[in-house]
Amino acid sequence: MVASTDRVASEIGAEILRRGGNAVDAAVATHFALAVVNPEAGNLGGGGFMVARVANGTTASLDFREVAPLRATRDMFLDAQGNPTNRSLEGHLASGVPGSVAGMWEAHRRFGSLPWADLVAPAVALADGIVVHARLAESLQEYAARFRQYPASAAIFLREGRAPRVGERLVQADLAATLRRIASGGKEGFYRGRTAELLEEEMRRGNGLITREDLARYDAKWRDPLRFDYRGYQVISMPPPSSGGATLAEMLNIMEGYDLRAAGYLSTRHAHLFAEAAKRAYADRNTYLADPDFIPQPTARMISEAYAAERRSSIRLDRATPSEAVRPGLGPTTVAAIALTARPEGEHTTHYSVVDAAGNAVAVTTTLNSLYGSRVLVTGAGFFLNNEMDDFTAKPGTANQFGLVQGAANAVAPGKRMLSAMTPTIVLSPEGRLRLVTGSPGGPTIITTVAQVISNVVDWGMDLPAAVGAPRLHHQHLPDRLYYEHDGLAPATAAALRALGQAPENRAGYQGDAASILLRPDGLLVGVADPRRGGAAVGVEGAAKEVVR
Ligand code: GLY
Repeated sequence: MVASTDRVASEIGAEILRRGGNAVDAAVATHFALAVVNPEAGNLGGGGFMVARVANGTTASLDFREVAPLRATRDMFLDAQGNPTNRSLEGHLASGVPGSVAGMWEAHRRFGSLPWADLVAPAVALADGIVVHARLAESLQEYAARFRQYPASAAIFLREGRAPRVGERLVQADLAATLRRIASGGKEGFYRGRTAELLEEEMRRGNGLITREDLARYDAKWRDPLRFDYRGYQVISMPPPSSGGATLAEMLNIMEGYDLRAAGYLSTRHAHLFAEAAKRAYADRNTYLADPDFIPQPTARMISEAYAAERRSSIRLDRATPSEAVRPGLGPTTVAAIALTARPEGEHTTHYSVVDAAGNAVAVTTTLNSLYGSRVLVTGAGFFLNNEMDDFTAKPGTANQFGLVQGAANAVAPGKRMLSAMTPTIVLSPEGRLRLVTGSPGGPTIITTVAQVISNVVDWGMDLPAAVGAPRLHHQHLPDRLYYEHDGLAPATAAALRALGQAPENRAGYQGDAASILLRPDGLLVGVADPRRGGAAVGVEGAAKEVVR
C-alpha cells in the first residue's frame, strides 16, 4: 500500500509493488512522481528524511537534508544593522544544496530491487504531460502571482499569465529531460554533467552560492534511527539533523506519565497536558538540536524516560507554566526566551508512507521548505529550488517563517545541514509487529501532528481514519499559544484552558497532511490520505494477506 498526497503518485508507487518491487522501490517511484504532479512540495531541488523498517527487523534512517553551500556564512541573512532579511526565504541565496536525488539513489542502492531507471520512468512520462487535477490547479492558481515574478517558472506553469485549469494539459519538458538524465545517470545525472551546469548557471544568474563543487560533494547519510517506547509500543523515528524524533520522544515520554484516557479526549486536562509537554520538548528542540556533524547532540538524554520524569516534575495540573518560565533543560544556554506574536504557517512539505507485501515499511517526508521553495526554478532543468536556508537560525532569538525561535547551535555554516522538524515515523506493537507508518508536512506542527496520530492510535484505540482525521493541537514553546484546529476544542474547554493560564487560539485552516498506513491486529492494512487535503492511499490486492505471516 502507498499513501501519499497525490492519487497519481500513490498509483505509481502501487504499480511498482504490483510489479514485484519492494517498499523502497515504491518509495523512490512515488518520490519522483510527486516531483512532477505535486511541484509545490514534491521535489528534485529539495531534501528530506526516510525511516525504514525491513521485515527482518532491520531499521534505518536516511538523511538527505540539504546542506549550506561552501560559500555560506553565519551572518549571510542579516542586514547592515544585524537584523534578519527575507533573503533566506526567497531568491537564489535561500537554497541549500539539494539532497533528494542523492537520497533516493542511496535508498535504492541499499534496499532497492527493481532497476533504478524503471523507478524514474513513470515520472518522466508524467513530465511529458499530465492532465491537471484539482489540487494542482488550486495550488498553481494560488501561486500564479509569484510565478509572474520569475520568467522561468511562468513559462512552464502559466499560460497567458494564468494558471492551468482542471482538465488542461501540463507539459514539463525541461523537467522530463532532467529526469531522463537521472534515469540514465543515477545520482550523477543530477549532481554532475548538464543538470549541475544548469543549476550553477541559475545560481550565477541570481547571485546564488551553489556551485558544481557543492553538488559533486553532496552525499545522503545513513543515521541511527531514534527508538523509544510509548506505552509499550516501539517508536522508530528520525534523529538530527531532524528534530522530529527527539522532540516527539520527549513529548510522548512526558505524556506517558499521565492517564490520558481518564482525562477524556480533547478535554481541558488532555489539552493542558499536551501543551505542557510540547512547551518543554520544543524549548529543548529549539535550543540544542542541530546538525550532529557540527554540534554534539543531547539526544540520548532527551529521549530518556528519566529526563521526561524530570521535565514532568515541573508540570502542574492546576496551572499552565508560561513559556518564559519553561527553560531548556539539557544544559547551559545563552538563548533568551522572547515572547512573539504568532505567524501564519502553511502545509509546506509532503509525506508518503509505504508498506509492501513482505512487511517492509518506509516513511518519507520531503520538502522544498515553503511551497514552491525559493520560487526560483532552474532554467532549462525545470525544477524548483528549496528555500531551506530559512530553517537555520539567521539570528539567535529571532523567529523564522514558522515563528520558531532557535538557538546558535543551528547557525549557518558551510557544509552544515539546517535543523528540520520532519518526523517520518514507524511504530511497532508491543509484540514487535509493524503497526503504523506515519508523518506529515507542516513545519514545526509536523511533530505535534505525528504525536497526536500516534497517541490517537495507542491511547485512544482509534482506527486510522479517525486518528488522522481528529482535530489537532499545536504548541511550540514560543509563541506561548495553544493552537487548535477547526473548532477542535469546545468553547467551554477553551475557556477552562484560559483559566489555567494557557493561551488557546482557534487556528483558521488546517494542521498537517498525514498520509499514513496502519496494520490492524487482524492483519488488514488500512491506508489513509489526510481528509484535510486529499491525495490517496492505494492498496495492491493480496498485500495484506501476505504481510501477516
Ligand atoms: N522545512 C521544514 C522542516 O524541515 O522542518
